[in-house]
Amino acid sequence: MSLFVKKSLSQLMATPEEGAGGLKRTLGAGNLVALGIGAIIGAGLFVRTAAAAGAHAGPAVTLSFIVAAIGCAFAGLCYAEFASIIPIAGSAYTYAYATMGEIVAWIIGWALILEYALGAATVSISWSEYANNLLGHRIPYEWCHSPMESVLVNGQHVSGIINIPALVILLLLSLLLIKGTQESATVNTVIVIIKVSIVLVFIAIGWQFINPANHTPYLIPADAPAATLPDGSTYSYAGFFNHGWGGVLRGAGVVFFAFIGFDAVSTAAQEAKNPKRDMPIGILGSLVVCTILYILFSWVLTGVAPYQDFMHAGKEASVAYAISHYMQHYAWLSTLVTVAILAGFSSVILVMLLGQSRVFYTMATDGLLPKVFSDLHPKYSTPYKSNMILFVFVGLFAAFLPESVAGDLTSIGTLFAFVVVCVGVMILRKKSPDLIRPFKTPLVPLVPILGMIICGTMIASLETRTQLSALGWMVLGLIIYFTYSKKNSKLGNASEILPSATDFEKK
Ligand code: ALA
Repeated sequence: MSLFVKKSLSQLMATPEEGAGGLKRTLGAGNLVALGIGAIIGAGLFVRTAAAAGAHAGPAVTLSFIVAAIGCAFAGLCYAEFASIIPIAGSAYTYAYATMGEIVAWIIGWALILEYALGAATVSISWSEYANNLLGHRIPYEWCHSPMESVLVNGQHVSGIINIPALVILLLLSLLLIKGTQESATVNTVIVIIKVSIVLVFIAIGWQFINPANHTPYLIPADAPAATLPDGSTYSYAGFFNHGWGGVLRGAGVVFFAFIGFDAVSTAAQEAKNPKRDMPIGILGSLVVCTILYILFSWVLTGVAPYQDFMHAGKEASVAYAISHYMQHYAWLSTLVTVAILAGFSSVILVMLLGQSRVFYTMATDGLLPKVFSDLHPKYSTPYKSNMILFVFVGLFAAFLPESVAGDLTSIGTLFAFVVVCVGVMILRKKSPDLIRPFKTPLVPLVPILGMIICGTMIASLETRTQLSALGWMVLGLIIYFTYSKKNSKLGNASEILPSATDFEKK
């Protein structure tokens, strides 16, 4: 049995349709763009912009956003081609199964767990920060932080124990997902409108409070004075990735998190009404809208508050901090923004959990994961058992990891999946040139190659600790593949001659 056994496209398309025990097709193009924006605008913008500006890029975090956006655009164009050809659940995992074989598909599916499950955990940690801000910091530090974090209070170190608010929001959203995709999509659309409005309001009002001194110098100088962190330690800007263009690059790796999610649209392909037309619109449309908003937003945020603030006082709930400290007479806006951000984070978590359960669903129907991940609820047709297991799994990360660790791991998993999708497009063009492609990635191989280079550079710019953790995760994945998945793979164990892809090729 080969490690590189591939699914033919006809097999992929033979995935059960609505009414045959499969997922329901209920989402239109508008829902998909909303799903994309719902997944995209979140902690990346409202938390990581400040983190990247404070520690690496300074005001030039706007350039970091541009670098990350270019990498995403190239990868997004590749995603759109795949999503239009293979419009079924599973995202990059499914594409890899059709083009590069089972083991690569497994590796991608495993990397996507970092993206979606850890992504959901990261945003729930940010949700906890803003929720505590809204409650006037009434939740004691210990109960809303990871044991890996500490703060200096009256000369005493206080360490986190467990992040309870993060667990609460994860539980609520897992229950909503079990109820059904259509209901979740409606809630999502309402939240997206609130979220985009608040970003626009912040940009419009904040613009008047921009202090040009905060934008000068634009790049952090190598000799910038060290910053003091909340736990009393100091942080130096001297390292290559902590100032100047090196800082812009690592900043791109950090804010890349803000773009994660546009590919989540592709995980819902099996629930789209007209996937061939609507998937590219959903993926690229949401990416364009968000990029414009991000550049404007980060320009305003770093103009309103000096980047050094984001290393100590403004580290948590940075937008609320910037408004209440620098935008006189707008304290009310700070509260409004916080409420909107909480709603916005909820929609991100929702889409991430949705994406993860759909990837698990597909992997389980392929036999690579236990069947429990593909069991559908008799009434709601949702993979409810998977949703419940996910809550426990994601909850462990959310409860015990700091935001920055979970966030960087999420970015690396996603960047890796992007690189593989770029490679996959080139392979499929060579192997099946006649395939009907409702959407074609322009300028192949230039676009996928540039996508690989930019995403690869962002991976290289992240911390060594993050890179090693991701590597450890992948090794664990391979152990599971060889001890469980390879033996249980339906395709690997199929004895009959499988149908070919010719039905989908131009005659
Ligand atoms: N892009 C999503 C966010 O920023 C994951 O929260």
